[in-house]
Amino acid sequence: MTAPAGGELEPSAGAGTGRNAEPDAELLEAVRVRPLPRHVAVIMDGNGRWARAKNLPRVAGHRQGVTAARETVRAAGRLGIGFLTLYAFSSENWTRPATEVNFLMRLLESSVDRELPALLDANVRLRVLGELETLDPGVRRSVERAMRKTEANTGLTLNIALNYGARRELVRAVRALAARVARGELRADAIEEADIAGALDTGGTPDPDLLIRTSGEFRLSNFLLWQVAYAELMVLPVLWPDFTPRDLYLAIAEFQRRSRRFGGLETAPEPSSPPTG
Ligand code: FPP
Repeated sequence: MTAPAGGELEPSAGAGTGRNAEPDAELLEAVRVRPLPRHVAVIMDGNGRWARAKNLPRVAGHRQGVTAARETVRAAGRLGIGFLTLYAFSSENWTRPATEVNFLMRLLESSVDRELPALLDANVRLRVLGELETLDPGVRRSVERAMRKTEANTGLTLNIALNYGARRELVRAVRALAARVARGELRADAIEEADIAGALDTGGTPDPDLLIRTSGEFRLSNFLLWQVAYAELMVLPVLWPDFTPRDLYLAIAEFQRRSRRFGGLETAPEPSSPPTG
């Protein structure tokens, strides 16, 4: 197999590829020895289209999407990535037909329950971004239990964005800061970027270095709008249910080839004033 820097690696052909023991061990190793993104965020898109292409109901795509999510979590853990954020249900997804919303809620609840032993085993800490309070009580119970049981884990932090919308998140953060100002704990003119970042659901988490969106759509869909300011964006044609560990490794290999300048210059800048002495 060619090393990722060679650029000759092909994305996986579809479901099934890369799901055996570790068929991509060489690729995994080549990626692992180079600087990894600390935080990878994923907009998992294309479940419905995957199902339609197979003449299946949309919910079959969501079911297969859970399998892809599980494999992605495992792969991120194997790589040693610190944070993985998966966009599972947006605040706008409530506008879908009630039958699909209900199915998704039950699926998320049962997936969290079923995966909990594996998360504990793999030292994964589960966190949720979004508004848990207004969620279906069953999902909320499962998620809160899983967060409690995994909170001391020190491996991968898995953030699931659930009932999440970045603008709502910013509104909640602004309200929290305003309340601190009203209590006299913070001066309005002393509010800094770090205060805003800290008041977001991702407070204490590094910003994503890499944002992957599957199914070929070039949109952010109200996901982590503040946090992705300097993320490398990667839109992949693969539909989410077909996404495999190999796709994750290839995306990271591509990330490792990109040069990140954060608004600066590629080469070391000239000193701003002549050296003294
Ligand atoms: C995107 O496809 C999928 C969703 C919004 C549903 C939630 C994701 C899963 C069930 C994957 C599993 C996640 C976890 C964390 C267990 P879409 O329905 O928007 O597809 P379409 O754009 O093709 O219609």
